[in-house]
Amino acid sequence: MRIDILTLFPQFFSTLLQSAIFQRAQDKEMVSFNVYNIRDYTHDKHHIADDYPFGGGAGMLLKPEPVFEALEDVLKDRHADEPPIPVILTTPQGQIFSQSLAYQLSQHKRIAILCGHYEGIDDRVREHLVTHEVSIGDYVLSGGELPALVIADALVRLIPGVLGSEESAVADSHSDGLLEYPQFTRPADFRGWKVPEVLLSGNHAKIAAWRREQSILKTAHKRPDMLAKTSLTAKEKKWLAELFPIQADIGNSSLGK
Ligand code: ADE
Repeated sequence: MRIDILTLFPQFFSTLLQSAIFQRAQDKEMVSFNVYNIRDYTHDKHHIADDYPFGGGAGMLLKPEPVFEALEDVLKDRHADEPPIPVILTTPQGQIFSQSLAYQLSQHKRIAILCGHYEGIDDRVREHLVTHEVSIGDYVLSGGELPALVIADALVRLIPGVLGSEESAVADSHSDGLLEYPQFTRPADFRGWKVPEVLLSGNHAKIAAWRREQSILKTAHKRPDMLAKTSLTAKEKKWLAELFPIQADIGNSSLGK
C-alpha cells in the first residue's frame, strides 16, 4: 500500500516513520509512505500557503492552488485503468473514523491524506479534490496531522504481514465489533493475583470459548453501544440476558441505554 500525506508540517511524521511496525512494513515493501510539503507547491518568494477568508472572519484559510498542485503531482502517476485513489481530508466535520473505515481504506492500493489546516481550507478543495472527510472524534485539534497519523497507523497494521502474527490484528479490540479479552503473561501468580485457570489448561477450545465470553462481558460493561451493533449467537444473547435481566435487549439494540 502506498500512503501519501500532504501537510504544512512534514516534521510531524518522522516519529511514525521511525516506529518498529512502520520500519518493518517499509523494509518489507508492504507500505511506502511519502510526505509532501504543501508549501513546496507555492510560487511566491515567501511560500505563503494561506490567505484571508472572503467575507471576513477570524483566521486564515489554506489556499486552493498549492493544495491542488500538490495533489495533482502526487496523483499524476496513476494509470487510467487503476481504481480511483481515495483522497482523505482530516477535518472535525468528517465521518468519525472507525475500525471498519480503517479496514475499507486498507483495501486500497493507494490513498492520499490531506491534513486539514487549523483554521480551515478553501471549500473548493473539499468539493473537487477530496473523496472522504474523516474526523477522529468530536473534539477540535490544532491541525490535521495527528488525525493523519492515527489513520495511517490504523491502516498499516491491517495490511497482511505487517504485524508479527496475523492473529494480533484479528484479535484486536473492535475488529469483530467486540473489545479484546483480558490477556496475561508470566508469572501465573503475581502477588496472589492468579491468572484464570483455563488459560493454563492447554485446552484451546476452552480457551477460545472463555475469550469470546470475556470479550462479550467486557463490551457489555464498557461499551454497550458496540454490543448493539455486533452479531451474537442466540445462545450468547440468552446467556447475556440471564446475566443482565434488566437489560433484556442485550445484543439486539439497546443495552445500557
Ligand atoms: N482537525 C482538527 N480536529 C480534528 C479532528 N477531531 N479530526 C480530524 N481532523 C481534525
